[in-house]
Parts: sequence; C-alpha cells; structure tokens
Amino acid sequence: MATVGVRRRKRSRGDSLGLEAPTASVPPLYHGGTGDALAGSLRAANPLERVSNFSPGPTSLPSTVMRSISEEFLSWNQCGLSVLELSHRSPEFLEIKRDAEMTLREVMEIPEGFTIIWAHGGGHGQFAAIPLNLCGEKSARADYVVTGAWSERAAQEASKFCQVDRVQPKPGTDPSDWEFSSEPPAYTYICSNETIDGFEFRAEDFPHRLGVPLVVDMSSDICSKVLDWSRIGVAFACAPKNIGHPGLTVVIARNDLLERKSQRETCPGILDWKNFIESDGMWNTVATFNVYTTAKVLQFIQDEGGLPEMERRSIEKSSILYDVIESSGGLYSTPWKISRHRSRMNVCFEVKEEDPHSSRNTEAFLTGAHQLNIIGLKTKTPFPTGNKLRASLYTSVSISDVQKLASYMKDFQKISQ
Ligand SMILES: Cc1ncc(COP(=O)(O)O)c(C=O)c1O
Repeated sequence: MATVGVRRRKRSRGDSLGLEAPTASVPPLYHGGTGDALAGSLRAANPLERVSNFSPGPTSLPSTVMRSISEEFLSWNQCGLSVLELSHRSPEFLEIKRDAEMTLREVMEIPEGFTIIWAHGGGHGQFAAIPLNLCGEKSARADYVVTGAWSERAAQEASKFCQVDRVQPKPGTDPSDWEFSSEPPAYTYICSNETIDGFEFRAEDFPHRLGVPLVVDMSSDICSKVLDWSRIGVAFACAPKNIGHPGLTVVIARNDLLERKSQRETCPGILDWKNFIESDGMWNTVATFNVYTTAKVLQFIQDEGGLPEMERRSIEKSSILYDVIESSGGLYSTPWKISRHRSRMNVCFEVKEEDPHSSRNTEAFLTGAHQLNIIGLKTKTPFPTGNKLRASLYTSVSISDVQKLASYMKDFQKISQ
C-alpha cells in the first residue's frame, strides 16, 4: 500500500510536529477504497480533506483541542518541557490535574459530596473495582440491568467478586416496572449507553431505588447530557470517546460509598478507590498526558456551552440520522423501535440486503462512504456485529459531519431504488 499522504521530515526541537501538509501531487483518490473501507480502515480516501470520523472510539478530538495540544506540545506553558516529560508530582502537573478536576466538576455540575478519581485500567478495570469496593464480601448481591454487550461483560466480571442478579428490562416499560431483587442489593448497575447495541438511558430513566446506590457506566455518553446527581452513587467512564484518549478512566463516587466495607484485603491496590483518596490521587503514577488532554476537551465543552449545549447537539445530530433511517422505505433499519431507548451517541443501523446472508449492499454503502472521507462506520470489535453499522456521534463530531453522512445516505438510497 502506498505511503503517501503525510511525509515525515527530519525534526528539530521548536519546529512543528515534523509533519508536512500533504503535497499537491497526491491524487485526490489514491486508494481504491474498497479494501480499506471493508477492513475498517480509518485512512482518508482523500488526505487533502479532513475526514468525518464516526468511529466508536478511540476517536477524533475536537480540532481546536488538537491544535492547542500541538502548539504547546514541545514546551507546555513556557516551562521548556513537554507535558509528556513532566513528573506527576511536579507543581506544573499538579496544576494541570487541579484544572482538569475543577473543569470536570463545573461542566458536569458534580456536587460537593462526590470525589473524582483518575484511574487506570479502562472501563474493564472498573468492572472489577466496583464490586471489590462496594461489596464487603463475595456473598453480597448486586443487581445488573443488562441492556447490551457492555453491561453483560460488567456482570460477568462482577460475578467473580459478588453474587450478580441480572435484571432484563422490558423495552418501552418504565424502570419502576422492572423486576429488581426483592432484598435491597449492595448496588444497582446500569450502562447508560450501550456503545455496541445502541441502547441509551435518558437521564430521567435512570432507575431509582431508595437506599440502593446506582452505579453508572458512562464510558460512551459522559458529558453528552445533563445529569441528576441525586440518582447516582458512582459514575465512571473510560476517556477515549467523549473526553479524551485511551489510558484514563474517570471515577466519580459519592463520599459515603467510599467509607463502605470493601474487599480491601484481597483487592489489588490499583483498583482500591481508597488508595487514591488517601494519597490525593497519587497512589501510583497518574496518566499525565491523558489528564492534560481530557482537561483540554473539558475546556472545549465548557467554552461551547457545557452539557446543555452538548445534549442539544446530541439530540440534533442523532435526529438527523434517525429521520433518514425512518424515511428510507426500509432500506435502512435500526434495532430500537422505541425512540426513548435509541442511543444519541451510537446510531446503529443496517442496510437492507436482498439475501440476508450477503453483505453486498452493506459493502457498496461502506465503499461509497469511504470515497467521501466518511470513515469509522464499521470497525472491528470482539463482539459479533454481522452487517450492523454504527455512526458514533461523540463530542468531536460536528453537525456538518452528520449532515454530510445523511446526505450520502439519501443519495445511496436514490441509486439503490
Ligand atoms: C460502554 C462501555 N463500557 C466499557 C467499555 C470498556 O472500556 P475499556 O476498553 O477502556 O476497558 C467500553 C469500550 O468501548 C464501552 O463502550
């Protein structure tokens, strides 16, 4: 495969990142497209134009964030060092960390009685950390509301450390009608947005049981909607979808839950929330560059109007695509018929195949999209997804990106008729 697009040149400190703009001699469509699109490649078909990246994550960061990072990459705040080179205990990094926490608190309107932890180990680390920190012993019970692949995986992991009761919500019903265990569990667990399956809880649909803390995996919808913290005990999210890149997980926990009896004797230190609290977040080396990047994205969100504006955009972006799907005469379909459950972050859809065992139309759709620099609609995942496509609409995806995809979907519909 040709290695055109971006040429590297010898780098000197003080110069830009050593990346040159693509040369004009590069033909606009230098790839055939088909192979790349079907293999889940994110490579631009036309590197002269910015891509519209609908990848489920890790994904693009807002371009103003990327620009700001690149401008101060070699010397942060005129200190002569890159953030990559700062010690996590230096006053300079502590300033970055304080700033990240303050902005997160302001943006998410996190009340006083909650503590923020910057953790390692991604969402999966917290799948184990939650029962280890919230269940005094292995015999304790926890309710897991299973709405898709990620809540199921969390339930499987938790069952190593506590007794898991699965709650299966009936589509279209109110959480108050679901069958939770009769004995109050140590906590109730939900994944507020199932990244793979496209099921989302609206903030007002978070189940509420008096005296039972609610744990929420917000990995793919954090900072996309306004929350009611009186319903939440613990919220956590891996960063690389809405607020950063891989290597950082944020945990926001109500203080009284941190005082609970945990499985501390056997809990690996890196998963023990108390270690982070007692060391002011410095129990081990915090992921410095990730915290810095997340602080930048949070500042972007705040400057753009905060969560009310992010929520408004999410509604607008997802509605554009669901409208195209609904009015496609059956060419496109989405698994969730009830709009209240439809994800505003990951719009899942299929392109109709005459032969259900074929993927001919899906492949033609993807190839055409790729030639327009629309990427990330089909990426590899360890979960079986068949012909399902996903348009992920995270923080960095603009309304014009979505309009471009919608207009392509309509054009594809016309040529398919
Ligand atoms: C909703 C959700 N939870 C958890 C995870 C797992 O996160 P990680 O890969 O950081 O362990 C993901 C990853 O995509 C996710 O989308």
